[in-house]
Amino acid sequence: MAIQRTFSIIKPDATKRNLTGAIAAEFEAAGLRIIASKRLHLTKAQAGVFYAVHAERPFYDELCTYMASEPIVAQVLEGEDAIAKNREVMGATDPAEAAPGTIRAKYALSKGENSVHGSDAPETAAEEIAYFFSGLELVG
Ligand code: CMP
Repeated sequence: MAIQRTFSIIKPDATKRNLTGAIAAEFEAAGLRIIASKRLHLTKAQAGVFYAVHAERPFYDELCTYMASEPIVAQVLEGEDAIAKNREVMGATDPAEAAPGTIRAKYALSKGENSVHGSDAPETAAEEIAYFFSGLELVG
């Protein structure tokens, strides 16, 4: 498997509880390099564009309100098979179903307040990275 890049968000529930460093350490321990990182406070409209694919879901409004409730940390992770590796390190969306030792099993509060987001495929990774970062900000 080639070196890939994936997009990650450390979500409001985690930044609020001062877990940014703990979660970043989980990525690094798994062999993922953080090649871009920025802390920002999204507006609800910016969160809505990011999660537009979920616009028809019943939880969309709640999701956008939550994502704009506190700062987030947007990151680009690089490594061997990075998309799948990051999803493995994150664990299942619902912390009740996340494997022991994963970020969501350790830190997530609920299916909505689940501490991290990670891209699910190469196309979405490219789109999500481009939404938050310019090429000059990716320093591998
Ligand atoms: P994420 O990987 O960021 O992608 C979409 C997000 O929607 C997901 O993580 C969850 O945080 C959120 N989500 C999914 N299902 C629900 C739900 N049933 N209720 C609230 N939020 C949800």
